[in-house]
Amino acid sequence: MRPLELSIEQEIARAIEGLDLTEARRCYREQNEFVVLDHFFTRPAVDQFLREADLLTPGVNRNDVSGHKQEGRVNFYALLSRAPSILSLYRSPALLTFLSRLVDSPLRLCPENDPQSCILNYYTELGDHIDFHFDRSYYKGKHYTVLVGLVERSERCRLVARVRKHGKTEEIRETRIPMDPGTVVLFNGDKLWHAVTPLGKSEERIILTLQYVTRLETDHSRNCSPT
Ligand SMILES: [Fe+2]
Repeated sequence: MRPLELSIEQEIARAIEGLDLTEARRCYREQNEFVVLDHFFTRPAVDQFLREADLLTPGVNRNDVSGHKQEGRVNFYALLSRAPSILSLYRSPALLTFLSRLVDSPLRLCPENDPQSCILNYYTELGDHIDFHFDRSYYKGKHYTVLVGLVERSERCRLVARVRKHGKTEEIRETRIPMDPGTVVLFNGDKLWHAVTPLGKSEERIILTLQYVTRLETDHSRNCSPT
């Protein structure tokens, strides 16, 4: 029997209601604009996103950029026609308002012609990884990355972040973050030095990546790096 479709707006409202926003904002500021929201979304919501991700699996594009990164991804254009729940999440006014309060800046969706605005990342082959990087963008304002864990069947492949204290240059710790289904990570792409460690044999990891900006004007003199 086909599972019942959840209302994504109701799921987002439930998730926001269950969170201590004051504490999340404190962590976010203290960690130089980076925060982990453990199990923010429920398993049924994740399953709904995964059903759409599974349908898109045949269209996964594999990347292998000179050893810097190796992964599969499905970009925004593919999601537009096949992933209504994921798009509802990305475009949710309630989520946008919540994230704006969390980062203390009015956030906007990336333009519709930006293929990286909302993507699925698939780590499915031995050694899939991304080396340390910042998430740079072509936009003039600030640029935020939101990661949503969908599948984390791996012991080796982890998001690794070098966390700094607000206003300090030295790192306070390196943290390995299990992206359990429903867990959300939010950070300022220009501020968090992060990587994904290599996938082991027969492991699998799928992440939904959402991008938000504060300005839509572009500055092509900026160097960009992959998310
Ligand atoms: Fe990244």
